[in-house]
Amino acid sequence: MAVPRTVAVTTLGCKVNQYESAALVTLFRERGYKVVDFSEPADIYVINTCTVTHLGDRKSRQLIRRATRNNPHARVVVTGCYAQTSPEEVLSIPGVDLVVGTRDKSRIVDLVEELESRKEGPLAVVRDVFADQDYEELPVPALPSRVRAFLKIQEGCNNYCAYCIIPYARGPLRSRDPENVLAEARRLVAGGFKELVLTGIHTGAYGQDRPGDLDLAGLVERLAEIPGLVRLRLSSVEPMDITDKLVDTMATRPNVCRHLHIPLQSGDDTVLARMRRHYTTAWFRELVQRVRERMPGIAITTDIIVGFPGETDGQFENTFNFVREMALARLHVFKYSPRQGTAAASFPDQISAPVKEARSRRLIALGDELARSFAAKHIGQEVQVLVEEELPEKEGFFAGLTDNYLRVIFPARKNLVGELVTVRVEGIEGADLKGMII
Ligand code: 5AD
Repeated sequence: MAVPRTVAVTTLGCKVNQYESAALVTLFRERGYKVVDFSEPADIYVINTCTVTHLGDRKSRQLIRRATRNNPHARVVVTGCYAQTSPEEVLSIPGVDLVVGTRDKSRIVDLVEELESRKEGPLAVVRDVFADQDYEELPVPALPSRVRAFLKIQEGCNNYCAYCIIPYARGPLRSRDPENVLAEARRLVAGGFKELVLTGIHTGAYGQDRPGDLDLAGLVERLAEIPGLVRLRLSSVEPMDITDKLVDTMATRPNVCRHLHIPLQSGDDTVLARMRRHYTTAWFRELVQRVRERMPGIAITTDIIVGFPGETDGQFENTFNFVREMALARLHVFKYSPRQGTAAASFPDQISAPVKEARSRRLIALGDELARSFAAKHIGQEVQVLVEEELPEKEGFFAGLTDNYLRVIFPARKNLVGELVTVRVEGIEGADLKGMII
């Protein structure tokens, strides 16, 4: 049989998945495959799935079906968290040829090629995530942008929050060897990337499984020293992991962005305790104050779950009021989704869909309002923008991010992609800033 030539990869979910998909693209390219868009006919489709909520499962199934529609003769490969936790369900979808869990991604091309000599039925390579304890190295990702790259520093999580399935999908904490992180960072910077975004499943726990080695603050310190690295951004860091040392490191390195995504999940102490989050709102408030004192203007963004089992109207109001009081710069709102095998899935008093929907809407509206008022504080100021793209829909206009995670749109006569420019902010459009370059 002829060797398949084209491959299309699509991704659901978090930044880690995006990073890993980009690494899969590299693996296929290295072996001579041509990478095409997911909407085009391809010989192989790879769907990198998500299972954090039931919507991740549903969207994963939709994309699998779309792949078989695009080319009924294609090989369909399903990987990622949904593939890991529900392999039987995935295998039962017509057209699926290969299921690879969250391990063995580095072997994906070999596994695809194994399919060619296979006579009978689909192949599943889904290992026990608790069995082996190594960090699986993947090649440097092929990223679409040439400006900002994700850099994965660890895998897995040991926290077992009551609602969360991810420890079962990704397994325990495994930190990547700091030398490998640094080597990849240097390669990305040498390749022209200006901003690196550290990603992981439980990024703040970096190093806890490597006693005597660098912790997150230590790693950030080393990364920040890389010549030519314009910006280093942290993504999600759990509140309990934001140590004074980390805050100090961030505040004293000019190329570390003033941005922290700190998942709060609930603004009610009873709900937090039942979620098995080991902090209170009072502690979170104090943390936010401490962080803001050291890094004025920092963007603090968060995740909130609404409709956790037993969440009363009053407890939701507490969340609403606390989030407003904290004036967080951006909210990601999730409707609680029971995940099989997690503690909260069997809690009593599950909340009805309409109540979750109503709470979600109110919180999303609050989030929009907070995002606009955070942006509006910058009107009249000069901000530093790392230019990422010329707007496809608006020729002559460019967009980029400030270090505190605001998107800025401005006109320019020449292509400034990849450059750090100063923009005077004149107004806002939604939660974006508009201005003129100076
Ligand atoms: N239901 C809804 N949201 C969830 N998250 C994690 N598990 C669930 C669940 N079962 C959300 C949390 C987390 C984000 C990535 O996904 O807010 O921070």
